[in-house]
Amino acid sequence: MSAFIILGAQWGDEGKGKMTDYLAEGADVVVRFQGGNNAGHTVVVGEKEYKLHLIPSGILYKDKLNVIGNGVVVDPEALFIEMDYLEALGEKITPERLMISDRSQVIMPYHKELDNLYEIARGTNDIGTTKKGIGPCYTDKAERSGIRVCDLLKKDVFKEKLKTSLAMKNDIITKVLGGKALDFDIIYNQYLEYAEKMRPFVKDISVKVFDAIKSGKNVLFEGAQGTLLDIDYGSYPFVTSSNTIAGGVCIGAGIGPTMITNAVGIAKAYTTRVGKGPFPTELNDEVGDWIREKGFEFGVTTGRARRCGWLDLVILKTAARISGLTSFAVTKIDTLAGLEKIKICVGYEFEGSIIDYFPASLEDLASCVPVYEEFDGWDENIAEARSYDELPENAKIYLKKIEEFTGVKVSIVSVGPKRDQTMVLTEI
Ligand code: GDP
Ligand code: IMO
Ligand code: MG
Repeated sequence: MSAFIILGAQWGDEGKGKMTDYLAEGADVVVRFQGGNNAGHTVVVGEKEYKLHLIPSGILYKDKLNVIGNGVVVDPEALFIEMDYLEALGEKITPERLMISDRSQVIMPYHKELDNLYEIARGTNDIGTTKKGIGPCYTDKAERSGIRVCDLLKKDVFKEKLKTSLAMKNDIITKVLGGKALDFDIIYNQYLEYAEKMRPFVKDISVKVFDAIKSGKNVLFEGAQGTLLDIDYGSYPFVTSSNTIAGGVCIGAGIGPTMITNAVGIAKAYTTRVGKGPFPTELNDEVGDWIREKGFEFGVTTGRARRCGWLDLVILKTAARISGLTSFAVTKIDTLAGLEKIKICVGYEFEGSIIDYFPASLEDLASCVPVYEEFDGWDENIAEARSYDELPENAKIYLKKIEEFTGVKVSIVSVGPKRDQTMVLTEI
């Protein structure tokens, strides 16, 4: 029996899709437990590249069950677009391959409209959201006016809830935010169609996931976003609206903490972030541009250029602590080849001392000065390396530094986007 978590240790886009696909070979079930189609997970199999947003990255194996957990916010329009996209690539998505929780919250057109209008209203203080309606949908969940998948499947319940919600939302959209009211009939009819298409996929996923773990199957939980986008522990308010850390699994998939056996933090060999907010090791210079071009750091969901900077071990140590990480998988170390010198942040200078944790207050964070250690780089192209021994000495030193500082071992190293560009240092 194993219940295994994969989660982002930084600000998202660490390579979770690739690592989920890689590790899913040994799993029976792959579960998304939070977020929605704000995620953009890339999986490369052979010469084919797949971009997934809502459907778990285990979907490319025909014999695995993929689960969208109750903690996920589901945009039915995006779901069916993704199913069609996969079908066009030869992957027909059937209820044997995909299950959706009856407790998941449904993203409605007014959530997307509000996401957009709130961002405009924030002006220069905007968050830089993906505008997929994620924040407003989670707001309704907490405020208890959300529409769940099980509500959508009951015509009369849905009608009543939509009526109440839309009336309130239209008031906010038109009277507060200066937008245009949305039409009840258009939404109602469209979502009834979605409901019928969705119905065969809908189950009580907590029961399925529990039974799978209890019967000795291997269950993989695929995180979206990353530790510093967590609503509680991230760089608030420049975060997403869900719990991206390991604790989110219990809530978002309905299993107890005692069932979890491993938590692997996916860490990019440098740091990136997309959207606004603080970023202590950001490189606003030619090295940052070089990393962006070499690592092709452009968002999968929005196409935005990602901000790039040096590896920040304060962040990885924080991720290890709050998610109880059992190991790291380090990705994109191949991108760094060619740099003469590489810096790693090993602390923040804050109010006259050195700290090794990420502060809560953005004002405190702004006054933190990263403390760097400088390392010699390597020139060898390591995309073809398949074992630790084939890595250049300086790349090994780099990996050792991560282990030494965080106290967590590096169990996997990824040297390219493809499945086989992966080396396992310690079996997990
Ligand atoms: P996710 O959101 O965490 O799944 O990551 P994204 O898919 O948004 O971004 C990661 C990008 O890096 C994708 O284009 C991957 O194909 C690519 N990638 C993943 N691992 C590696 C690696 O080890 N080396 C290189 N060069 N690219 C990688
Ligand atoms: P994956 O799973 C990187 C960022 C947005 C914005 C903030 C809030 O591919 O790693 P939201 O739309 O969630 O309300 O936006 O979070 N963000 C991501 N950044 N990777 C992601 O997902 C992200 N999902 C959201 O850019 O800064
Ligand atoms: Mg991504």
